[in-house]
Amino acid sequence: MAVEVIKSVKIMHQRSATLKRSGERIGFVPTMGSLHEGHLSLVDIARNRSEIVVMSVFVNPTQFAEGEDLEQYPRDFDRDRRFAQERDVDILFYPSAEDVYQDNFRTEVQVTGLSKLLCGTTRPEHFTGVTTVVAKLFNIVQPDEAYFGQKDAQQAILIQQMVKDLNFPIDIIVGPIIRESDGLALSSRNVYLSDDERKQATSLSSALIKAKKTIESGERNSKFITRQIRSILSEQPDIKIDYIEIVDLEKLQPVEKIDGPALVAIAAFVGTTRLIDNIIIDKNESNTLKIENT
Ligand code: PAJ
Repeated sequence: MAVEVIKSVKIMHQRSATLKRSGERIGFVPTMGSLHEGHLSLVDIARNRSEIVVMSVFVNPTQFAEGEDLEQYPRDFDRDRRFAQERDVDILFYPSAEDVYQDNFRTEVQVTGLSKLLCGTTRPEHFTGVTTVVAKLFNIVQPDEAYFGQKDAQQAILIQQMVKDLNFPIDIIVGPIIRESDGLALSSRNVYLSDDERKQATSLSSALIKAKKTIESGERNSKFITRQIRSILSEQPDIKIDYIEIVDLEKLQPVEKIDGPALVAIAAFVGTTRLIDNIIIDKNESNTLKIENT
């Protein structure tokens, strides 16, 4: 069956309401399009757990700051529709910015504190844009389950907090990071990299793998680990580090001694492209970000 494309907010809202009245469970995968295996792995997880799979493709203007890549962001709806169809998405929601943000839009959803840490330090308005649009999408699509990637671990943690704080009756399910064979985490922004930058970018994941091994071999001191990552990244001429942090998985507070679940997170510019990557250190597999298997 062809994937059903819905472009109107009102029609999507009505369609979901009808599905729910007839007892269907809706699984939702929000994206900004330019789909790759990272996004599609979330669809696969949703396909296994939810009855109806809705995916949104919406490049959300409010999560981009002035001077960021909103205009440049890769868009190819026909390609996205083809991928969605191949992976058995039921409904592809593809609204316009004008329909999502009507004239005189004034309300924001902000997860205070958490939204200003890590990526929020240099992108202070970014997560407010994300939580606002995700709250709107949740109200429009009315999912029972929603699927997010560990690739954007801070985003997933913020959404979990928002859902709890605002009583959205939605289970948040987090899928693992999907990588290229050389380790680079898939990202719609990887297309910005030149061949040389692309090679240098693999040092993000190799530094994280090294960090994990060092921790597993007994090192507990966060400073030692972040220094080790910094020195690996510094070997690359075009990499400029934004942050390297080791934090807990709930409050995103720095941990000095790694003796429980922790998130090792990196953000760095490779040339002019900002990339993020992370790894979860989880000795007892009981952290709050339970990563689903694909
Ligand atoms: P986008 O960057 O398109 O990502 C959509 C979803 O795919 C997110 O949950 C993200 O974590 C996940 N994802 C991206 N790359 C991945 C990878 N390599 N492995 C696994 N999952 C991956 O994140 C957003 O869009 C937006 O902020 C959004 C939530 C849609 C709100 O506008």
